[in-house]
Amino acid sequence: MVEVIEWLKQNGDLKIIDEPLDVILEIPHLAYVEVKKEDSRPLLFTKPVNRAKGIEYDIPVLMNIFASKALTEKIFGRHPDEVAEGIDALLKLKPPKGWKAKLAALPKLFSLKNVFPKRLKFRGECQEIIIPKGEVDLDKLPILTTWSGDGGPFITMGQVYTQSLNGEMQNLGMYRLQQYDKNRLGMHWQIHKDASHFFDQYQKAGKKMPVTVAVGGDPLYIWCGQAPMPHGMFEMLLYGLVRNKNAELVKSITNDIYIPRDVDIVIEGFVDPKLTEIEGPFGDHTGYYTLKEPFPVMEVETITMKKKPVFQATVVGKPPLEDKYMGWATERIFLPMLKPMAPDLIDYNMPENGVFHNLILAKMKTLYKGHAQQFMHAFWGVGQMSFVKHAIFVGEDAPELESFESLTEYILNRLDPQKILITQGIVDQLDHASPEQLVGGKLGVDATGDEVSRGVETALSDSELLKKMQAINSDVIELRQYFTQTKNPVCVVTVTKSKAVFEDIQKLETLQEHIKLLVIVDKTNNDIDNPYMLIWRVVNNIDAQRDILLDPMIIIDGTNKGEIDGYEREWPGDTLCDADVLKGLQAKGLIDIDEVFIHKFGLLES
Ligand SMILES: Cc1cc2nc3c(=O)[nH]c(=O)nc-3n(C[C@H](O)[C@H](O)[C@H](O)COP(=O)(O)O)c2cc1C
Repeated sequence: MVEVIEWLKQNGDLKIIDEPLDVILEIPHLAYVEVKKEDSRPLLFTKPVNRAKGIEYDIPVLMNIFASKALTEKIFGRHPDEVAEGIDALLKLKPPKGWKAKLAALPKLFSLKNVFPKRLKFRGECQEIIIPKGEVDLDKLPILTTWSGDGGPFITMGQVYTQSLNGEMQNLGMYRLQQYDKNRLGMHWQIHKDASHFFDQYQKAGKKMPVTVAVGGDPLYIWCGQAPMPHGMFEMLLYGLVRNKNAELVKSITNDIYIPRDVDIVIEGFVDPKLTEIEGPFGDHTGYYTLKEPFPVMEVETITMKKKPVFQATVVGKPPLEDKYMGWATERIFLPMLKPMAPDLIDYNMPENGVFHNLILAKMKTLYKGHAQQFMHAFWGVGQMSFVKHAIFVGEDAPELESFESLTEYILNRLDPQKILITQGIVDQLDHASPEQLVGGKLGVDATGDEVSRGVETALSDSELLKKMQAINSDVIELRQYFTQTKNPVCVVTVTKSKAVFEDIQKLETLQEHIKLLVIVDKTNNDIDNPYMLIWRVVNNIDAQRDILLDPMIIIDGTNKGEIDGYEREWPGDTLCDADVLKGLQAKGLIDIDEVFIHKFGLLES
């Protein structure tokens, strides 16, 4: 790919912002608002500043590279489904029989030679400028502070290159890095991730682990960094496969790790296994803060860069954001890789408001009793798919997985407490709902069969039902029913909790004839008329083992948890914008949003 800025000008409708804007909140808030718009564009900030530190940076900041599906497709050079078809064909490759078949297989085999990265013997463009250890100063990079509650500035689009202790395996992972000072970064590789496994090897051997972090270059490197490749497979193979061109790598100056020649900025250093430091808080892609926790520290040895580097960054927070588009490509491209372990899987979808690991919808062909349950266990047992908290399986006659209205109707017509599996497994390190970190509840819904026979016996209006509900529980404030045309309408109530939701829950037995599925959320920061954000909230906030009851009806407690619920961890806050920063950007004419927009995406407290 030619130089990214030029490419984005020609292909991505790049928006250039020459107004000086602060790396603390201003630039991230503008990018956050932009990527939520229907027609979102990539943004180049040519004059980043840090007013608190009195810095005017000479490196521009590039954001929202994956601004839309259309742009993501252009970055790949074709639709992700086409990439998936190529992978599928390779996975099904059989030794050709006969000369005709051999000839037909040749293009596929030749394209494979482009998969393996090439190690170049010379220096790369990313090493045009070399800053020696004594002169390293991370303050020279326009590292962003996204949220007012963040523990500091974070590199959010760092490609973290590592290798195993024996040098045989290489890995690229995208992990955030907190800037502590002029030459130290917090290394947020989570415990399940590949670089963390390498780190364990170094720790056992008592050796410092070399790490090289790259920023920029071909945007496909970024996507590869977040792709859930199986352990031991270098993500640069995927790069070669997508581009049909070998990745060209050069050796880091101070260690043996190879990085793409054309990245913009390279930070080399090592992680001392004996040292950790508090990392966070950080407003994360769940839309919640991840709280302070000790993580390894990277000490920087040298920084190299192109003569005219660009600093790439992203904002994570409440959906929809840039990771929606990266995740969409991942979902499509990894479908063929899921099929060998679940051959009757037709398709799957990870809705962005389920922030990927909180909700998966999967369509399958059922061949025998328990087939959907078999898939649930398969998903929960494999790689990063095992982070998925809630999985809903539908049959091959179900509507398209992206037709959310009709698919929801299909599911609600088949929802049966007898076909709900609640169990336990590993959860993403970021999950805040589980009673303890890393392990928590899992929900599997088998909606593959026939419609259930019975629906609500006596339907009531929202106001009638609210009155009855309030007579039982005075914490209830509002009530709204969705999908009343189905066998299992969703009854949502908001509460101001004075006691645990499930205390006295059996009293709701009297409402059994009116309600089949009840969802409870807090009144604060939730809008009962905004199902998109309600789904985001509920799947984030629940631990299936603790927060779902199947009797006297299906009840889901999607409220924030605290002492009254017996929850012993610290419950994190939502990522919320700074109202003054938004106003300032409005006043400068840089954003144009109204109350409806602010409300729709939960930008401010409500
Ligand atoms: C924007 C963004 C930020 C991410 N930040 C982190 C992070 O800080 N730590 C982490 O372990 N994973 C993070 N991830 C997820 C990893 O990149 C992803 O799980 C990847 O597959 C890990 O690679 P690995 O399996 O080679 O370790 C992030 C993903 C995205 C899209």
